[in-house]
Amino acid sequence: MKIISTPFELKEYLKNEKRTVGFIPTMGALHEGHRALILRAKEENEVVVVSIFLNPTQFLKGEDLEKYPKKDEADKLICKLSGVDVLFFPQASDIYGEDEVSLLAPKVRGYILEGESRPGHFNGVLTVVMKLLNIVNPTRAYFGKKDAQQLNLITLMVKQLFMSVTIVAVDTVREKDGLALSSRNAYLSPQERQEALKIATSLRSATAMVMRGVLDANTIVENMREILAPLEISYVAIVNREFVQISHVELGNSIILVEVVVGGTRLLDNIWL
Ligand code: PAJ
Repeated sequence: MKIISTPFELKEYLKNEKRTVGFIPTMGALHEGHRALILRAKEENEVVVVSIFLNPTQFLKGEDLEKYPKKDEADKLICKLSGVDVLFFPQASDIYGEDEVSLLAPKVRGYILEGESRPGHFNGVLTVVMKLLNIVNPTRAYFGKKDAQQLNLITLMVKQLFMSVTIVAVDTVREKDGLALSSRNAYLSPQERQEALKIATSLRSATAMVMRGVLDANTIVENMREILAPLEISYVAIVNREFVQISHVELGNSIILVEVVVGGTRLLDNIWL
């Protein structure tokens, strides 16, 4: 596995690449969710590139940038053992300069739900993903459905800015008990982790309701809120795949989203129905 730390070197390295390139951007502290993206990219491409970059511009003031888990050596090993060909490991100064051109998230879809909890967060996400895609110039880029709004906005960016990369969505990987894997799960105490299981329970219950034919969004959301209580709920919402809130679940075109804060840790999850 080749490890490269500057955009210039990586562009040089991939300049004459004629094979298909699959790219997985990450912020490190890799887990099985990240690995699912890597393995999918391995199946579908001849060359696989992973980036590990803790992007400062997507963290708001007072968020967990400083304490975000760092596992550089373990991450390198995971990439190597997963068959990654190139690991891109830049510093913030390699990616950002002064007085920068900026990219803004759309005013509606970028500022609802996660964008309302974290105003401006998606500006940073889109900016860094655009930079990384321009550096790697992959055939396909892989993103988790777990961060559904991020996936939606990146897909929108690629479409609206006429970029040629194909965005591939990968299913959420969970622990056996249902908790969605996340680098931030490391912040949870055993008791908080137990409380966090209510998220998966609420989504399972919502799915069961839909299977019984209950499609009314308010009824489903109310039921989920009851299950989640007394956790601090940031939002429970039902949107279509374009991220427009809907009053009735449309099978094959809906996402039920939930975000709660457990002991100061923001946990998000969703189910695509
Ligand atoms: P990060 O949180 O490291 O996630 C990297 C990718 O892994 C994202 O596409 C995310 O949706 C996916 N992922 C995380 N947990 C997952 C799980 N349990 N199952 C499946 N996929 C999962 O998301 C980011 O980094 C950043 O915002 C980034 C896109 C890299 C831009 O900085």
